[in-house]
Amino acid sequence: MKTKFSSMLGIEYPVIQGGLQWLATAEFCAAVSNQGALGMINATIHEDKESLKKEIAKTRELTGKPFGVNISMLPHGDDKLIGQYMQAVIEEKVPVVETSGRSPEAWIADLKEAGIKIIHKVPAVRFALKAQQVGVDAVTLVGYECGGHPGPDNVATLPMLSRAMQELSIPVIAGGGIGCGNGLAAALSMGAQAVVMGTRFVATQECPIHKNFKDWIVRSKETDTMLIMQSLRNPMRVLRNPAAEKVAQMERAGAGLNELMPIISGKINRQKWMDGDIEGSIFTIGQIVGMITSILPVQELMQQIKLEAQTSIAGLTQGHT
Ligand SMILES: Cc1cc2nc3c(=O)[nH]c(=O)nc-3n(C[C@H](O)[C@H](O)[C@H](O)COP(=O)(O)O)c2cc1C
Repeated sequence: MKTKFSSMLGIEYPVIQGGLQWLATAEFCAAVSNQGALGMINATIHEDKESLKKEIAKTRELTGKPFGVNISMLPHGDDKLIGQYMQAVIEEKVPVVETSGRSPEAWIADLKEAGIKIIHKVPAVRFALKAQQVGVDAVTLVGYECGGHPGPDNVATLPMLSRAMQELSIPVIAGGGIGCGNGLAAALSMGAQAVVMGTRFVATQECPIHKNFKDWIVRSKETDTMLIMQSLRNPMRVLRNPAAEKVAQMERAGAGLNELMPIISGKINRQKWMDGDIEGSIFTIGQIVGMITSILPVQELMQQIKLEAQTSIAGLTQGHT
């Protein structure tokens, strides 16, 4: 199960829990890292550098294993705040930073000097090439089926991964539509050094979202997601509900960011995620939601993923019955 990349990071399984806005806390991240995958905390939950530094310290109290910090830099992000997050991870010398949304070029030299591994997450091979050129250690490619932001090209994970293998020389991490050991085995067999999972980790007992959302995940099929915010050039895959339908309908009618904000605002949705308001909130999730039938503890999930991946790989070499 080891790859060069997982050995470099010192993790047992080549599995990364991607950044999860509002959910990736120290407790959740440590629960994942303690089971041998790479847990990740979200910088963007924090209002300043000191708050993030405290969260990093708390993570270190809860796990002695490697972990990462996700720093999402979406188009309308606050550059000053991003600078504070970067300072926090540099001062704390966290093992890994996962960036997304925009090129991390401006911070690469400082991150490297602090000995931090930089994984940049992108939704297209052309952005991955740029990231390789500016010196990141690895790129994560997420396809059209992913939770979060699938990018503008509507290219699915499989063809994107095949193209990435032709073009890139740095380690590639595959994401989007991977939620089990079979998916992990498939990605490794295509040459990926690890996988990133988002949706599957939301559906765990430790994930700090209201139970109503976990029950909704279990009820949902792979056809139950839709894209919103395409008109803002920042598509997001969400579970279909009245709030998402309303956003789509407003976009068709020409609404701009200011008009959409009362529904899509992260802060408003954070409260709804904690209150269990599944009708009124925007809930990002990927198409792999369709295969999730139970909410497992992270420990059981990781054991299941390991067993499935080993069985898949053995099946390929020994011949399937
Ligand atoms: C609820 C949720 C919140 C997410 N928040 C972030 C985020 O803050 N930053 C980020 O880079 N990616 C975020 N993502 C994307 C994941 O890190 C990961 O790239 C993606 O979920 C992989 O696709 P999958 O959902 O098919 O596993 C989020 C995904 C989900 C499901």
